[in-house]
Amino acid sequence: MPKITIAIDGYSSCGKSTLASDLAHALGYAYIDSGAMYRAVTLHCIEKGIISAEQFSVDGIIAELPNIKLEFIFEEKSEIHLNGKCVEKEIRSMEVASLVSQVSAIHEVRVQMVAQQREMGKQGGIVMDGRDLGTTVFPHAELKIFMTADENVRIQRRKLEMETKGIKVTEEEVRKNIHERDVNDTTRKESPLRQAEDALVLDNSYLTREQQLAMALEWAKERGA
Ligand code: DC
Repeated sequence: MPKITIAIDGYSSCGKSTLASDLAHALGYAYIDSGAMYRAVTLHCIEKGIISAEQFSVDGIIAELPNIKLEFIFEEKSEIHLNGKCVEKEIRSMEVASLVSQVSAIHEVRVQMVAQQREMGKQGGIVMDGRDLGTTVFPHAELKIFMTADENVRIQRRKLEMETKGIKVTEEEVRKNIHERDVNDTTRKESPLRQAEDALVLDNSYLTREQQLAMALEWAKERGA
């Protein structure tokens, strides 16, 4: 049976990663969290002292790109490795979240990430989530899903996710970060977040994890998965 490409885009903290990994698991496909790649680049640049809350060197980030090697290792789940080290937890920090939108707006960063994403997806059989999958990375994906959810629901979900990972945050910090990232991601010049014309909209504000999976699985089957 041919394996299709599934592109999931949407606002911050809409549950894209949960749906994408559930869908990949159900179909026996690979799952790639493209946001994790931008987060890992951001983490690396923080660790190298190139960016912080006080300073942001675009030239420094571009110069550092050749020294950043990203891989997804599939064991029980797909986990991102930065220069050989698993950084799944480190990339979820508030510091990374507060700088990642600016890093992901840089042309050279996007060119490199998009090339790697296309390479990973060239055989099909992949579910990838992010902001520009259906518009830029895989414009010919057989299934494109655009996810959205009520802002308060998203804030509570992200806060809980961070707390589960042992990261302490206030509701206000999460609200501010989600809002800022949505504004940056939708208004940037390069590949802004927008709904592809042929994307199906999934508002999961009041859907359970099982309900959203069932809906997406039906769409995937209709498109040949
Ligand atoms: O999905 P996420 O919240 O982990 O993504 C982190 C940031 O990376 C997000 O604020 C915007 C950026 N991003 C992007 O520009 N393009 C993608 N395909 C995925 C993420």
